[in-house]
Order: sequence, then structure tokens, then C-alpha cells
Amino acid sequence: KQLYGVIGCPIHHSLSPLMHNDAFQTLGIDAHYHAFYVEKEALPAAIEGIKALGIAGINVTIPHKTAVIALLDSVDETAKRIGAVNTIVRENDRLIGYNTDGPGFVRALIEETNTMIQGKRILLIGAGGAARGIYFSLATAQAEQIDICNRTKEKAEQLIEESDILVSGRAYSLIEAEERLSQYDIIINTTSVGLSPNVDAMPLSLDHLNERTIVSDIIYNPLETKWLKEARKKGAIVQNGVGMFVYQGALAFEKWTGVFPDVERMKQVVI
Ligand code: ATR
Repeated sequence: KQLYGVIGCPIHHSLSPLMHNDAFQTLGIDAHYHAFYVEKEALPAAIEGIKALGIAGINVTIPHKTAVIALLDSVDETAKRIGAVNTIVRENDRLIGYNTDGPGFVRALIEETNTMIQGKRILLIGAGGAARGIYFSLATAQAEQIDICNRTKEKAEQLIEESDILVSGRAYSLIEAEERLSQYDIIINTTSVGLSPNVDAMPLSLDHLNERTIVSDIIYNPLETKWLKEARKKGAIVQNGVGMFVYQGALAFEKWTGVFPDVERMKQVVI
């Protein structure tokens, strides 16, 4: 039996074990996925333990996604650029780091809203870790323009400047972005604003939102944030964070087993 898992802190609410174990079972793969509570200081020991025990694959979550990079045998280019690893694969007894968060978001966006990224004008709200992954993945998927707005505008400016890829885009404050909302095809909240228990908070006003704009929120608790509900009322096409969660898991599962699992089933398992 192959062993897989996730390391993080906190970890007890993780839905990953449920999702992956169901997929192993459904596909008849003799494997098990376990959630490991690993505090910040224990990360190097945990990685040594993973090597020593022959664990076949590991997901990495908060607070280890960046720190783990220095502890791996190699890290793929996308994950390096994003600056975060969420999936480790054992390949010939070497631990290789990947990032499936950004690619998972983009795949979910394409599949669930039935759209393509190519040629789209996109607004990202937020400039933290989640925004980085999504930003570089959207840029790779040939978005026409990606603007970033953030409470701290300087952080949005830094992320835009850092981009060495050919995608145009500018940094805005939240208030500046609110005024420009009608110019975008896709608007994505990558911040934690609206996350339970602060369910009444909204990342920015939707006063200038056009009908048929795609509005996406990476939050999945609550399943539909107040912000998404308002976007829906205004005639937007909305997407919640379940897709990103499930697709990052499905892409990790595929790296480990070579099989892309049934994402619709995965969604049913985690909702
Ligand atoms: P993550 O890795 O989940 O992206 P993070 O790196 O801490 O987490 O980033 C959090 C993002 O949410 C940031 O863009 C942050 O804005 P600042 O850069 O100004 O801190 C944004 N954010 C968090 N709380 C916020 C709030 N109450 N209002 C507006 N933005 C907020």
C-alpha cells in the first residue's frame, strides 16, 4: 500500500483525506492519504521523515508552502516562480516540488464557467500567496491583461513588476479598481475577505459591475460569499472556491498516480 498525505498547521479541518481516499477507493488504487499535523519548527524533520518512511506523495499547506522549497531535492519552474509548493512527488527516491494551486484555479475557471483565458482582461483582488499562484498561471494561459488591486497597493505593484512574462497589467488601490470594474471580463477575489466567520465583509464594491462578467471567489467556506451572492444578483456568472480546491487536489492526484480522477465526484465528497 502506498502512503500519501498532507502536512500543515492547523490541519484537522482538512477535507483532503476524504477527497483523496474516496478517489483511491473508487479507482481501486491500493493507497491511503492521511493528514499530518506539523508545526513550523518541525518541517525539516517532517521532510526527513517522509523520505525515510518512503511516503509516495505529500500535499503541503499553510504555513509550509514557501519554507518547504529549500528542503526538497528539486522544484519545478512554475512552483519556483510562484514561490510556493503545494504538492511533493517522490520520483526515484528524490522529493520533487510542484504547485497545483494556480493551475488548479485556472483549470476550474475554464471548466466551470466554460470560458477560455486567452484574450481576457482580468482583475485580481489581493497580492498575497494565493494571488501569486493564480497570477502566474493566468499569465501562462495567455490572458490579455491582468490588473491587480490590493488594500496595500505597493504589494500589487511589486507583483506586477516581478512578472517577467509577457502580460500587460497595472496595479490599483481597491478604490481605483472599484471605479474600473466594468472594464473586466473576469474578476477574482484571492483575499480572505468574506471567509467564515467574517461573512459580512466584502473585498470591494460591485456598483460598477457589468452583467455577464465572470466573478470568482477562492473562498469555499461559506460556499457562496456575500460578495458572490451580490455579483449573482447583478447578473454575473459566479464561481466559488470549491473548484480550485478540488482541481488542485485532482492535479496532485494525477501527478502521483498518473490518473486524473472524477472531479464531479470529488466535489460531491467535499461539499
Ligand atoms: P494568502 O496566502 O491566502 O493569499 P496572504 O499572503 O496573507 O494570504 O494575503 C492575504 C491577502 O488578503 C492580501 O492581499 C491582503 O491585503 P494586504 O496585502 O493589504 O495585507 C488581503 N487582505 C487580508 N485581509 C484584508 C482585509 N480585511 N481587507 C482587504 N484586504 C485584505
